[in-house]
Amino acid sequence: MSGLAAPSKLSLAAMVVVFLLGVAGSAHGLERLVSSNSNKPCKQMTLYYHDTLYDGGNNTANATSSGVTKPTALSTSRSKNTTYFGMLAVFNDPMTVGKAMPAAGEEPAAHAQGFYFYDKQEEQNAWFGFSIVFNSTAHKGTLNLMGADIMSAKTRDISVVGGTGDFFMARGVATLSTDALVGLYYFRLRMDIKLYECYV
Ligand SMILES: *[C@@H]1O[C@H](CO)[C@@H](O)[C@H](O)[C@H]1NC(C)=O
Ligand SMILES: *[C@@H]1O[C@H](CO)[C@@H](O)[C@H](O)[C@H]1NC(C)=O
Ligand SMILES: *[C@@H]1O[C@H](CO)[C@@H](O)[C@H](O)[C@H]1NC(C)=O
Ligand SMILES: *[C@@H]1O[C@H](CO)[C@@H](O)[C@H](O)[C@H]1NC(C)=O
Repeated sequence: MSGLAAPSKLSLAAMVVVFLLGVAGSAHGLERLVSSNSNKPCKQMTLYYHDTLYDGGNNTANATSSGVTKPTALSTSRSKNTTYFGMLAVFNDPMTVGKAMPAAGEEPAAHAQGFYFYDKQEEQNAWFGFSIVFNSTAHKGTLNLMGADIMSAKTRDISVVGGTGDFFMARGVATLSTDALVGLYYFRLRMDIKLYECYV
């Protein structure tokens, strides 16, 4: 009896080992791909970022962004030049593939979640830190971006410093340009995102 049991235990153990190796292979099988040419990102996409700022009145339902700092004497005096020095805004803004805002009830391609603050007295200038959160059939995961938004420049680059999920360990550069500016409470940025390090 024990003579029979021993080999079947052994083959069961072997099967478990093979199974575990197989699981490990598929769970950790992503391979690092690093672009060797700045013209050839390993992944790229363009998304539009819609920032609807709370106007202090009754757009609470539509606003996806809000100033969260109490204005200081400095920021209010500078705001005459609309530089808003020292103002910090927190946002959960929709991002879309086309320029149009998502229709009511429609899921955007992604959400940008994070903050920007204004950091220059002489002219409007900002700094961004946020995650692009994807939760669609096309993509699940995040890209994490940060950097100076030199608003006087037609285009400015910020860094893609990391990612999760479909964008596991991603790195790259996002080129921002102001695509629309409507009054004081809405602006749209075009973001051309190029990844130079991908795991595929
Ligand atoms: C609220 O919205 C109404 C209708 O759009 C507008 O007439 C009114 O001026 C708004 N009030 C404030 C405080 O923004
Ligand atoms: C909210 O947005 C909808 C369309 O996107 C617009 O019709 C409505 O007037 C907006 N409401 C406020 C309070 O801004
Ligand atoms: C604010 O704007 C006024 C008028 O354009 C200008 O004279 C002044 O230098 C500006 N202030 C700063 C700090 O840039
Ligand atoms: C992601 O989408 C699924 C399906 O629509 C939903 O059930 C889930 O709550 C979403 N997760 C987040 C973090 O939004």
